[in-house]
Amino acid sequence: MHMPQFIPTNAASLLLLYMLLILQTKDGVFGFEPDFLYPLENVTVAQGRDATFTCVVNNLGGYRVSGDLTTARVAWIKADTKAILAIHEHVITNNARLSVTHNDFNTWTLNIRNVMREDRGQYMCQVNTDPMKMQTAFLEVVIPPDIINDETSGDMMVPEGGSAKLVCKARGHPKPRIVWRREDGGAILSRGGGASVRGERLLSIEGEMLTLTKVTRSEMGAYLCIAANGVPPSVSKRMMLHVHFHPLIQVPNQLVGAPVNTDVTLQCHVEASPKAINYWTRESGEMIIPNDKYVMTDINNSYYSVQMKLIIRRFHKSDLGGYKCISKNSIGDAEGNIRLYEMEMQERVETEEDNQLDELDDIESTEKRLYNGYQGPLTETEENVVMPDDVSGCARANRIFILLLLLLLLFVIFLI
Ligand SMILES: *[C@@H]1O[C@H](CO)[C@@H](O)[C@H](O)[C@H]1NC(C)=O
Ligand SMILES: *[C@@H]1O[C@H](CO)[C@@H](O)[C@H](O)[C@H]1NC(C)=O
Repeated sequence: MHMPQFIPTNAASLLLLYMLLILQTKDGVFGFEPDFLYPLENVTVAQGRDATFTCVVNNLGGYRVSGDLTTARVAWIKADTKAILAIHEHVITNNARLSVTHNDFNTWTLNIRNVMREDRGQYMCQVNTDPMKMQTAFLEVVIPPDIINDETSGDMMVPEGGSAKLVCKARGHPKPRIVWRREDGGAILSRGGGASVRGERLLSIEGEMLTLTKVTRSEMGAYLCIAANGVPPSVSKRMMLHVHFHPLIQVPNQLVGAPVNTDVTLQCHVEASPKAINYWTRESGEMIIPNDKYVMTDINNSYYSVQMKLIIRRFHKSDLGGYKCISKNSIGDAEGNIRLYEMEMQERVETEEDNQLDELDDIESTEKRLYNGYQGPLTETEENVVMPDDVSGCARANRIFILLLLLLLLFVIFLI
């Protein structure tokens, strides 16, 4: 069924309406005119969902024309294309997604299933009275954001000091807003243009492009581009920024002293990217293999920094000397040097006085050794023999005092 246009160009209708108009003014015979009860409401719907317009018309049935009751009709029209979608309970356009219902005596609905982008626009509910009555409302079709993978960056590699351009594009309606964040929640140093001030540290940066210049190792990590337009769900893409540089080794303690037969720990801090191979050697270059004696651990503190530890268990005199921690990656290598020396346990010379005093004071051990400044753990045998200099001097004074007291006591007893 084809109907070129609704009321306005239908000659017959026009004629009828014209007559009506004359009759109306002549006789003044008129029932209640149809009228809209509520305004037609704008509808916003996500693509793929259903939309409904509701038009409520009063007195539609009681339209009196020259003494005869006439029923006016409700039509749905797409305003921009002027296409008639439906008249009364019949869909005119050949769009299978459209349907109309006449729910009760005064409510008319236009339903659009599985809404598409092209359904967007102005819709009109029209009643063929004279003059024609109509109301309009807008259908907005929104589309959740979607990242355009072909136009969006993936993981990136940049030498330290170089620059990186991360791009993220998304489609959707309204146009999605793109925001960049670091996955670890760290600040992004904006050196590029855009809305942000140069050199500012920001937790998030807006725009399709994130430009990082003079990149440092601390900028290495995962970046997220998040696209949002108020239509859920928001989407994001994660990209890794790898910053490559020559390995660097820092040695916190280059001279390590400990008593023979104790456990000793050697440490190096390594910074390297790409990930390096780290190992320990003796001064001779002989590689150290982990076993019962050597325990090696590598703890990574970040994407690029590793703490290397070498524990030598109950070390011998033969273990004294130089050690190297070595880090190698595809860009280069670095080494750190550590020297292990024996920390002397000071042997106290036993004097004659001490021997005499020892007889009086059996709490104190005859073995009086001490470590100068050795802070490390003590082994079981050595634990209870440590006695710093001033403490032993103090004990000696105490013993002399007790001796004098005894002599005084003997003297008093002698007097009695
Ligand atoms: C309906 O939408 C149109 C177009 O977006 C707008 O101009 C109008 O103000 C809206 N009407 C209401 C009642 O929100
Ligand atoms: C440490 O390295 C491992 C293996 O390369 C990695 O899975 C882990 O995320 C790293 N940890 C940190 C804190 O970077």
